[in-house]
Parts: sequence; C-alpha cells; structure tokens
Amino acid sequence: MKKRLFSGIQPSGEVHIGNYLGAIKNWVGMIDQYDCIFCIVDYHAITIEYDPKEMQNRIIKAAAVNIAAGLDPDKCTLFVQSHVPEHTELAWILNSVTPVGHLERMTQFKDKAKQHRDNINTGLFTYPVLQAADILVYKGEAVPVGEDQVQHIELAREIARKFNQRYGETFPDPQEILSNAPRIMGLDGKTKMSKSRDNYISLVESPESIWKKLSTAVTDENRKRRTDPGNPDICNLFALHKFYSGSEQIERINRACRIAEIGCIECKKTLSENIVSDLAPMREKYEQLIKDKNFIIDILHKGAKKCKSMAETTMSEVKKRMGLV
Ligand code: TRP
Repeated sequence: MKKRLFSGIQPSGEVHIGNYLGAIKNWVGMIDQYDCIFCIVDYHAITIEYDPKEMQNRIIKAAAVNIAAGLDPDKCTLFVQSHVPEHTELAWILNSVTPVGHLERMTQFKDKAKQHRDNINTGLFTYPVLQAADILVYKGEAVPVGEDQVQHIELAREIARKFNQRYGETFPDPQEILSNAPRIMGLDGKTKMSKSRDNYISLVESPESIWKKLSTAVTDENRKRRTDPGNPDICNLFALHKFYSGSEQIERINRACRIAEIGCIECKKTLSENIVSDLAPMREKYEQLIKDKNFIIDILHKGAKKCKSMAETTMSEVKKRMGLV
C-alpha cells in the first residue's frame, strides 16, 4: 500500500517558475511513489481580502496550470477544498483540542496580522487548524511543503496526537517533506520570487514577455560595463541557467562571463531561449486546457467525489469515537 500524500495549493491566479522549481516539480516526481491528493485551498484563501468575482477564475487557472505542469489527474487526485465540507467539519472538531496558545505562536499568523491590520479575522487565526483538518481527514502521512509551512505541519502533528490521546488512536503523524531545491530569487535579484513583488516569470508567460522581463533583470551589479568581468557566483540569472541551460552552455557562460568574453545581453538571450523552450509544452497544454473550462470543472468534481467518500469514512470514525453518533 502506498502512503498517502496531501498538499494544498493556493488559488493565486499566477504560478511562477519559482513555485514550479521549488514545489510542483517535486510533487510531480512523487506521484508514482505516493497516493497523492492535491487540494486547491479556497477556504484558506478567503481569510485575506479578495474579490469574489475573481475567485472562480483563480481556482480554474490554478487547476489548469498545475495539471499542465504535470499533476496528471489520471495519476493523482485534484479537487477544491470547499467542495468537500468535511474539511471544515473536522476543523471545528480539531479546534476543540487545539490550545489557543499554540495558534498565537504561529509566525505566519503574526506576519499576516501585520500585513492585514484592518482584517485580522478569526479565520486567519485558526487557519492552521483547517490545514491540519485538510491532511487528517484523509489520514495523510506525507506533506510536501515549503520551509514556511513547517510550523503548521508540526502543529498538525500535535493536534493529531492530542485528538488520539483524548479519543483513541485515530490519526497518523503527518510528516513534512521538504524539497531540496534552492530558493529561487526574483528578477530583481534581491528577494524571493513572488507574485506580489512582480519579480517573476510565470509558468505560462509568452516568449516575448519572458525576453522583456529578462532583458531588464538584475545581474551581477558590480559589472557596470560590457568590458568589466562578471561574477556568475553572485549573478541571479546564472542561478536560473543552472535549471534551464545545458551543461556545456553553463560551463561556457561561467568561464566567459568572468573574462568579459560575453556580456549580459548575450547571456540573457541564451537563458531566454532555454526558458521559452522548456516552458513551451506546459504553456501549450495550459492554453488547451483553459479553453475548455467545463473539462477542468469535470476533473475537479471527480476529484471531490473521490475525496468526499474518503472524508466521510474518517468523519464517521471520528464522530463515533467522540460519542457524536
Ligand atoms: N498553507 C499552505 C500554504 O500557504 C497551503 C495549505 C493548505 C496546505 N492546506 C494544506 C499545505 C495542507 C499542506 C497541507 O502554502
């Protein structure tokens, strides 16, 4: 029997190459090894200000991009959180075994509370409990996440143990799986690639736009003139070459940049071409998927149906143990 893997996907309209290299690519590599469930977490997304008119589109786009990137719906389960109400039902139950003090320690809550001072709602506070419910309602054991989510998975483990102590052995210990991909920096070379900073290349970016973004991207800032030697070790774009270029090209750039044999423009052109051709199949797949929204909705409904029956099984066990039959 394969171990069950669960992860949540934020329905943010854009997925960038940082998300792909840091997370999705790893997930795709785990599809055969685990019984994988991927969930578009719309109930988490509503804990910060958003436009209801946009939400449907964000969900559909998130599904299409992730499928295009390799989350094959024939090999894993993809669905929308709000389509399976058992998540919120279990979250309520888990609230009752979660100490307030633990939630107050969550750094993501503290950060978000600072960022959204005028909307520090209760959902934002109990966000990690819903996240624990997401995983535990499927008795998920493996949870691939980024570094920033480790604290939430630790809490999910504690919640599972607390429940088990109080009501009897029910949930396994969920374990985070951290990717060993290095953090991908944004095109400004200063901060992590992120949607909010507009320093990213989207997974479905057009070739023209990829070139436009790269042409103004920050390189080794000490290299002021074409004739100055550059230092690939501190050049943000050289880091991207390592993912997108062939070993011979990488070697050449690494050597030629240091003696000013090539300039940044040439280096960027090579990178642009390589990124464009690497992303082409995903972009094509995405364009094809997004044309047929009903097809995507159908995939999501099928996923929800499968998940609902698993979640119902867990919920009846949980309720029975709690004397709630
Ligand atoms: N909080 C996660 C994030 O922001 C998303 C998420 C929701 C999640 N539920 C989850 C991740 C369950 C792993 C498991 O990235």
